[in-house]
Amino acid sequence: MASQLFLVALLGIALVSATPVPQQAGSANFTSAMTRYLQAFRSVMPCGYAPEGIPVLAPIVTPFYAYDISTDDYSLKGNVSNMRIEGLNNFKILSASDYGKTGQAAYDVIFPKIQILGASEVEGFVNIGGFHLPIRQRDVINEALVDLRFVGSYTFANSLTNSSGLRIVDFKQSIYLADVLMDNWNSLWNISTNNFWNRYSRIFISLGLEEIQPKITDFLYQNYFVPKINELLANVSMEELVNFYQSQAQLWENAHCQA
Ligand SMILES: *[C@@H]1O[C@H](CO)[C@@H](O)[C@H](O)[C@H]1NC(C)=O
Ligand SMILES: *[C@@H]1O[C@H](CO)[C@@H](O)[C@H](O)[C@H]1NC(C)=O
Ligand SMILES: *[C@@H]1O[C@H](CO)[C@@H](O)[C@H](O)[C@H]1NC(C)=O
Ligand SMILES: *[C@@H]1O[C@H](CO)[C@@H](O)[C@H](O)[C@H]1NC(C)=O
Ligand SMILES: *[C@@H]1O[C@H](CO)[C@@H](O)[C@H](O)[C@H]1NC(C)=O
Repeated sequence: MASQLFLVALLGIALVSATPVPQQAGSANFTSAMTRYLQAFRSVMPCGYAPEGIPVLAPIVTPFYAYDISTDDYSLKGNVSNMRIEGLNNFKILSASDYGKTGQAAYDVIFPKIQILGASEVEGFVNIGGFHLPIRQRDVINEALVDLRFVGSYTFANSLTNSSGLRIVDFKQSIYLADVLMDNWNSLWNISTNNFWNRYSRIFISLGLEEIQPKITDFLYQNYFVPKINELLANVSMEELVNFYQSQAQLWENAHCQA
């Protein structure tokens, strides 16, 4: 839920480009409506918005969550307690400009620091190539993502199922992560193993993100994310979309979240 809201929110920002392109009626107001929508969304994050079932998102706090999942290949039983994720509402829009003039919506958004705190216990096993690998961990979680940045762009075209509706085309996005700060602590391990694991995970996550992007994320966007959005936009005109963002922003602004 929260992550979907974010993705939709991120789509709203437009970047400068040189040549003016004729657009759908109402597109002159797209960027200002989206900017207002994003700011209003950020403003309700510390309070949540009950009428729409939006939970508090800044911080996200989960007192206790237990899980028990097994298949032939793995069995994991555990829980996470006192989970706290901070910083989701500190995003900055590094660039935003006028979709109505450029015909391309592009965005550059950065989360300076997302801090993840909590405690986790897990027991079980994983089968890797026939090896039965037992897992037993008791961790204090203390991680931070530093300068997590989303840079992307897209264009609106007419929906294929309704010529008055919209669809997104040419969607591109890259994710950059400057650093991962890991200070997790597994109380079943000694100091050197904990230090090794924190160093290893830090490198692994940064490299993994670079490695995975072209293959996996593009595949996910083109096959799942974009079609999903386009289904939602199919019967919505640009004017209706702009009105939706403005009236939604108005509702959130009226909540006067002060937390
Ligand atoms: C849309 O944009 C035009 C031109 O910038 C402005 O005059 C008008 O008030 C805007 N409409 C809304 C509903 O914001
Ligand atoms: C999960 O939490 C409960 C209650 O705090 C605890 O008794 C249990 O041992 C925990 N660990 C696992 C792996 O389920
Ligand atoms: C810490 O644990 C690892 C793995 O069990 C072991 O190889 C290592 O010798 C231990 N280090 C110290 C300083 O006890
Ligand atoms: C759009 O309209 C068509 C035709 O009325 C309908 O079949 C389709 O379910 C609608 N799509 C959405 C997302 O409402
Ligand atoms: C097509 O989109 C327009 C624009 O929003 C909408 O008014 C109309 O109801 C849609 N047509 C169908 C069949 O859903």
